[in-house]
Amino acid sequence: MPQIKPLIGKQENICAETPGDACGIIVFGASGDLAKRKLIPSLFALFQQNLLSDNFYFVGCGRKNASDSEYRKTCKEAIVDDINNDKQTNDFLNRIYFISGDYNDPLFYTNIKNKLKELDNKYGIDEGHIFYLSVPPQIYPTIVQNLGSSGLSCNQNNEPKQKVRLIIEKPFGRDLQSAIELNKKIHKCFDESQIYRIDHYLGKETVQNILMFRFANAIFEPVWNLRYIDHIQITIAESLGIEHRGGYYDKSGALRDMFQNHMLGMLALVAMEPPASFQADHIRDEKVKLLRSIRLVDLDAWSTNIVRGRYSGGEIDGQKVCAYKEEEGVKPDSKTETYVAAKMYVDNWRWKSVPFYLRTGKRMKRKLTEIAITFKKVPHSMFNLFGIDELPANVLVLKIQPNEGIELSFQAKRPGSKACMSTLTMNFNYGDIFGTKAPEAYQRLLLDCMTGDQTLFTRQDDVEVSWGLVEPLLEKWKNDGSEPSEYPSGAESFADADTLIKNDGRSWRPL
Ligand code: BG6
Repeated sequence: MPQIKPLIGKQENICAETPGDACGIIVFGASGDLAKRKLIPSLFALFQQNLLSDNFYFVGCGRKNASDSEYRKTCKEAIVDDINNDKQTNDFLNRIYFISGDYNDPLFYTNIKNKLKELDNKYGIDEGHIFYLSVPPQIYPTIVQNLGSSGLSCNQNNEPKQKVRLIIEKPFGRDLQSAIELNKKIHKCFDESQIYRIDHYLGKETVQNILMFRFANAIFEPVWNLRYIDHIQITIAESLGIEHRGGYYDKSGALRDMFQNHMLGMLALVAMEPPASFQADHIRDEKVKLLRSIRLVDLDAWSTNIVRGRYSGGEIDGQKVCAYKEEEGVKPDSKTETYVAAKMYVDNWRWKSVPFYLRTGKRMKRKLTEIAITFKKVPHSMFNLFGIDELPANVLVLKIQPNEGIELSFQAKRPGSKACMSTLTMNFNYGDIFGTKAPEAYQRLLLDCMTGDQTLFTRQDDVEVSWGLVEPLLEKWKNDGSEPSEYPSGAESFADADTLIKNDGRSWRPL
C-alpha cells in the first residue's frame, strides 16, 4: 500500500495525492489513437502538476518506423492545447523515445531490454517499468509471453519483479472461457499484484465519488437498503455511434462493450457493503462479493428482464446519421446490439427484491451517465384531505457525466395556498463549486499505477464473475437467431425498453 500524504489538512478540505514512483513507461501500440488522445496528454498534465517523478521516461513501441524526434513531434501535436511553458514542454518531450519492431519477433524485445537498460542508467531507475498494452487484445498474449521470456517481467529465479507492472485495456476476453484463458496466459509471466486492468469508468472523478459520498457521510447509510429504496436506475446513454470501430464493435456489442464492465462496475460501487478500509483489496473484495450476489439472468423470463436494440437511421442535434447496419465494418447479416436494458436483482440482506434497472445505448438522444436512486414513497399521505393522495418519491441522482454533480429531489410547500406542494431539487454541481473541470480518467489511472495502487483496476475474479453473469445471455443470443429491435437514432427510448420497466409500474428517467 503506497504512503499517501495529506496535501491539505484542514478538516473541511482534506486532500491527499502521491507523486508517481521513479519509472519508465513503455507503451506498445504507441502510434495509435489512445496514446495520442489520452496517454500522452494525461502524462503531460501529470508532469505539469509535478506528479511525475524526476526519474521518469517514456518509450513508445510500435510497428511503424519512426525516430525519437519524429515520434516526439507527434507527441507535441497531441499536447498542443496545453503548451504554455516551452521549457517544461521540451523537458517532457525530451524524455520520450521510440523503438519500432515486430511484436512476434524476440529480437524486438531484446532491443527494448537494451534500451531500457540504457535509459534506466540515464534516469536513475531501478527496475521500475510499466508496460502498457495499447494494442488489439489478440496481441496481448504474444507481447506478454515475450516480456516474460526476455526477462522483463520476472527476475532470474522467475519471481515477479515487484516494480514491474502491466497495464491492459478492456476487453479482457470476450466471454468467461476466453477471459480465464487470457488470465492464465498473463499469469505465466506476471503476478496478479503486477497487473492493472483498466476500466476507464473507474478513473472518472464522479464514479470515484460514489465511494466518498456513501462512506464519508453518515446520513445515507441508514436509508441505503431495501427498507427505504424502491429501485435504482443506472444509465449510460451515448449520442455517438460506433465511430470508426465497426470491425471491433460488430463482434462485441453493447453487452460486452459496456454492460459487462462499466455498468456492472457502477452497480457494484453503488450497492456494495462498506469496505474495511480504502485499501485496494478491501474495496475490490466488496465489489466482487456484490457481483457474486447478483441473481443470474433468468432465461425463462429473459424477454421481460432483458431487452436489446440496434439503431436505425435518424437525426441527432439536427444532423442526419446512418443506421448501424450502414456503418463501415458492420456485416450485412449482423445481429449485434447497440442498446441493452436489463432488470437485475441483488440477492443479499441489503437489496433483496429491489430492482436495479440498467440501460446503455449508442446513438441516443444525448450523452448522459447517471445513477438514480428512487426512495419509497411516504407510507401514508396525511394531505389526502386536500386531495393529495400520492406524493412523488425522493430521488437522489449521482450525475456522472456531463454536468457532474449530485441532485436530490424533495417535496416542499409553495408559498400561497394552504396546501400547495412542489417538487424541489437540491443540486450540487462540480463545475460550479470547485470551478475546475474533472481531470481526465487516464491521469488518475496512470498515476495510481505509478504509485502501485490497484484500487481502481479490475481484479481477475471481478472480470470472471462479471463474464459469468452475462454468459447465459451471450449464449442465448448466439443460439436463438433472434435480432435486436430497431430504434431510431436520436431516440430517448423505444417500445421494448419501455415495456421492461412499465411492466413494474415504473418509467425510465428522461434523457
Ligand atoms: C468504451 C467503449 O469503453 O467506453 C465505447 O468501448 C464507449 O464504445 C466508451 O463509447 C464510453 O466512454 P465515455 O467515457 O465516453 O462514457
